[in-house]
Amino acid sequence: MNTVVVGLQWGDEGKGKIIDYLAKDADIIVRFQGGNNAGHTVVIDGKKFVFHLIPSGILRKGKVCVIGNGVVIDPKVLIEEISYLRKKGVEVSPRNLKISLLSHLIMPYHRVMDAFREGKRIQKIGTTKRGIGPCYVDKFSRCGIRVVDLINPKKFAFKLKDNLKEKNPLFHEVYGRSYFSFKDIFEEYSQYAKFLKPYCCDSVDFLYTNQNKRFLFEGAQGTFLDIDFGTYPFVTSSHTIAGNASLGSGAPFIKIDRIIGVAKAYTTRVGEGPFPTELKGSLDDYFRKTGKEFGATTQRARRCGWLDLEILRRACLLNNVNEVALTKIDVLDSLKEIKFCINYKGHKKRSFSFCDLALVEPKYEKIKGWFKETINVREYSELPILARQYISIIEKTLNKKVKFISVGERREAIIKR
Ligand code: GDP
Ligand code: IMO
Ligand code: MG
Repeated sequence: MNTVVVGLQWGDEGKGKIIDYLAKDADIIVRFQGGNNAGHTVVIDGKKFVFHLIPSGILRKGKVCVIGNGVVIDPKVLIEEISYLRKKGVEVSPRNLKISLLSHLIMPYHRVMDAFREGKRIQKIGTTKRGIGPCYVDKFSRCGIRVVDLINPKKFAFKLKDNLKEKNPLFHEVYGRSYFSFKDIFEEYSQYAKFLKPYCCDSVDFLYTNQNKRFLFEGAQGTFLDIDFGTYPFVTSSHTIAGNASLGSGAPFIKIDRIIGVAKAYTTRVGEGPFPTELKGSLDDYFRKTGKEFGATTQRARRCGWLDLEILRRACLLNNVNEVALTKIDVLDSLKEIKFCINYKGHKKRSFSFCDLALVEPKYEKIKGWFKETINVREYSELPILARQYISIIEKTLNKKVKFISVGERREAIIKR
């Protein structure tokens, strides 16, 4: 069984936890887009693991994790993540981690450019300032530096020189920044090259050779952060939807059997951009506090709001979702009343453009809260009846089965139906 897991909202839906759960029944786990803008959290025996580049499947023994060509890699962050995991007793070696030679590298000037652009823009995006956007820009303008270049000192020197020739005057004249030193970057990245070389491989060959194994593709960000289908320009710079799993890994020969969309039982968003069901005041605080809604990467407070079934419907369509994993249902446990957006006012189903998300007004329905703790529930039938009613509304509206229900941050806090 080959599975793709994607976020159905604006990221942080709990993909990391669902990937960790599903990885027990997979052999190879592949990241196919994004970079260290992602923060995926898994909690096991009270120990918290936060992943930025390495697939969350690395926590399962005997599995192989692949960072695919569609990912942009900050080598410093990747090396730090490898040592962070090793310190926590997790095996990370060239045996269980493969890095595509075709992945693009985040360079120091990408990070600086990201921060400068954010600083200068009138319309801010609220990026993670990790250099993601500028790195993808260079990839598509064909001056990017790839992993295959990193491990070849001559090629790397040539490409770095070529980039600095263009970028240094630009940074200097437009942003008033001092020049980037070729020598400093070359020396720094040569150290990274030495460390990472044993992990690098032709990932297409690797996946092709192993095509009979069970694959799990780990999406990062969420559907509405997709560069085309998201709330542009308040999006990230890659395709976050399931359709990119094949392109971002170079594995069209792997047949996808199942697409699992992960949705939080309410909605959150980090950074700028439209968010129809956003709450202000005490309920916003309730979600942030109870759901610990602070970014796993930037620690920024996440904006919180009610579940929006209209965006979920659209996300199911864009990703061709087969099954839904609903997370953080426990966060709703102590609410007297639970609202959800069933549609947008004045719009019949799907008759408006998602380009106008900033202009819509949500139409809410509500149910009574269940007012019972769900964190220790492991059987669907043992969930409070009102919680089951909430899930049933979601299923009927989306016409999809909610196959997994997460009731707490811990690995075992999950119900499979
Ligand atoms: P991702 O980016 O989609 O992997 O999600 P994040 O890890 O950024 O954010 C999800 C947060 O919710 C993490 O802190 C998880 O530990 C936590 N989490 C995941 N599932 C649940 C759940 O069912 N209940 C609660 N209370 N927390 C959860
Ligand atoms: P995971 O994988 C939530 C948001 C940023 C910003 C926008 C663009 O943990 O779900 P970027 O740095 O990508 O150019 O920022 O996208 N963003 C995320 N929000 N979860 C993420 O990843 C995100 N990755 C990027 O906050 O609004
Ligand atoms: Mg996250």
